[in-house]
Amino acid sequence: MNPTERHVPVLFKEAIEFLNVSPSGTYVDCTLGLAGHAEGIARRLGPKGHLVGFDRDPEALALAKARLDRVCEELGSQAPKVTLIGEAFSTIARHLEAASVNGLLADFGVSSLQFDEAYRGFSFQADGPLDMRMDTRSGPDAAQVVNEVSERELADLIYEYGEERRSRRIARAIVRGRPVMSTGQLARIVAQAAPAMKQDRIHPATRTFQALRIYVNSELDEIKALLEAAPKLLKPSARLAVISFHSLEDRIAKDSLREGARQGIWEILTRKPVTAGEEEMDRNPRSRSAKLRAAERTAISL
Ligand SMILES: C[S@@+](CC[C@H](N)C(=O)[O-])C[C@H]1O[C@@H](n2cnc3c(N)ncnc32)[C@H](O)[C@@H]1O
Repeated sequence: MNPTERHVPVLFKEAIEFLNVSPSGTYVDCTLGLAGHAEGIARRLGPKGHLVGFDRDPEALALAKARLDRVCEELGSQAPKVTLIGEAFSTIARHLEAASVNGLLADFGVSSLQFDEAYRGFSFQADGPLDMRMDTRSGPDAAQVVNEVSERELADLIYEYGEERRSRRIARAIVRGRPVMSTGQLARIVAQAAPAMKQDRIHPATRTFQALRIYVNSELDEIKALLEAAPKLLKPSARLAVISFHSLEDRIAKDSLREGARQGIWEILTRKPVTAGEEEMDRNPRSRSAKLRAAERTAISL
């Protein structure tokens, strides 16, 4: 099966509703992935509309392009303009003019394509090389981090980005186990150093893998840069919708929107984050940790 077909976008209906798509507007999907949300936006746009999509993963970008090409072919003369950009979304202000955007969506984290393919190295469920880079064209991969940074740095990053209390013990075991070259080897080292406790519902390596992934991809800095750039790019009454998957991401979104609201830049539309309903959680386990926050840009100029 084509990966775009088995993929289920998280909080799809809710995210699209918050964007309030107007057929002739410009909408940005900062995290195309397999283009589930992007297809929803494209189908609500008309020929005067413009969909701009980002993904820094070349493989995801190619699949998103193929899917959106099919949608546009089907829509024929009613299809919107589509522009795809294979760069990190932190570069957004270089690609779009101030006050030119009607809606912006970001669905953070890893796509099912990245997670499910062992060779991408994101998952401990299947053995693969320790890569974890979303942008496979550049930057150090997880193997370099695991094998080259000091034990102290490793412990700090596992603590900070994985919220892992047993980070020192885990870092010590990793350093002793070097060279660590595969996801399976790393998962075993972590599980031995910090075995699952009775109350744990997650695999003992989950937090360490999350930490490495966030570090390798500078994920939190990316989110901060995007949320800083967004107010300038959005028109008055334009909407922002962001979906996060763990507390570190959600905290950045919550704090940034609250601070913006205090300055009169945002009107917050979700006093509490929107979460998936029972039915979606049953259908798509990934949606269990998803939190959607949305805001509307006020008319205040920057
Ligand atoms: C959760 S998936 C998005 C799924 C998408 N909403 C869909 O419906 O298929 C996140 C995607 O965003 C991309 N991504 C994550 N951080 C990024 C960043 N800073 N810049 C550009 N793309 C990023 C990842 O490569 C991944 O493909």
